[in-house]
Amino acid sequence: MSELCRERLATQLAEAVAEALRADLSRQEHALLVVSGGSTPVPFFEALAACDLPWTRVQVTLADERWVAEDAADSNARLVREHLLQGAAAAATFVPLTTGHQTPEQGAEAVAKRIDGLAWPASMVILGMGGDGHTASLFPDSQELALALATEASVVAVRTPSQPQPRITLSADRLHQARRHVLHITGGDKRAVLARALAGDDTRQLPIRAFLDCPLAVYWAP
Ligand code: 6PG
Repeated sequence: MSELCRERLATQLAEAVAEALRADLSRQEHALLVVSGGSTPVPFFEALAACDLPWTRVQVTLADERWVAEDAADSNARLVREHLLQGAAAAATFVPLTTGHQTPEQGAEAVAKRIDGLAWPASMVILGMGGDGHTASLFPDSQELALALATEASVVAVRTPSQPQPRITLSADRLHQARRHVLHITGGDKRAVLARALAGDDTRQLPIRAFLDCPLAVYWAP
């Protein structure tokens, strides 16, 4: 049953994203979509790839990325290429968050330049959320959390004890620069984390709270 619910959720989210992109593209040449990685978005990516859109005018980037090679199994760029940039959607412009530099600290400036050149404000930012309340790579145990929550820079290199690889994340400020925000989550555990987040306001404890003070459409299924 939950499988079917999650498929329907993915389809409904894809329809909402396609509608938002079409609405913005009726007024501007390019529209930007910011997606998250992880396991939840896969059926959504596949549903969106099947939508009828002027894909050459669509820009896609990520909320965050592991600092790994683009063909690594845990690369979000690879996930997007394999599940979203397929068929007609392959014509979209995809902007990854990694460079050939050894570390995200070294690559951050080049990535920021790329990101700053996109069609902001984004049409939509689709966030995921982990069991620890992180979203994008805004982790509660990251040394750079305060910086990522406060900076006006578009990206921040992140080191997180709970995560095996260094990461790069769009800053909270940059993620806020969108016309629409969605939180895409599934399962009872994440429902409980969201309930906790809604019941308090310490963003450092549950970083998803950084997005609870603006309209946030929650797409949830069991
Ligand atoms: C990533 C993102 C992360 C993700 C959540 C949820 O993993 O690339 O950094 O913010 O959206 O961790 O991940 P799942 O969908 O795998 O639960």
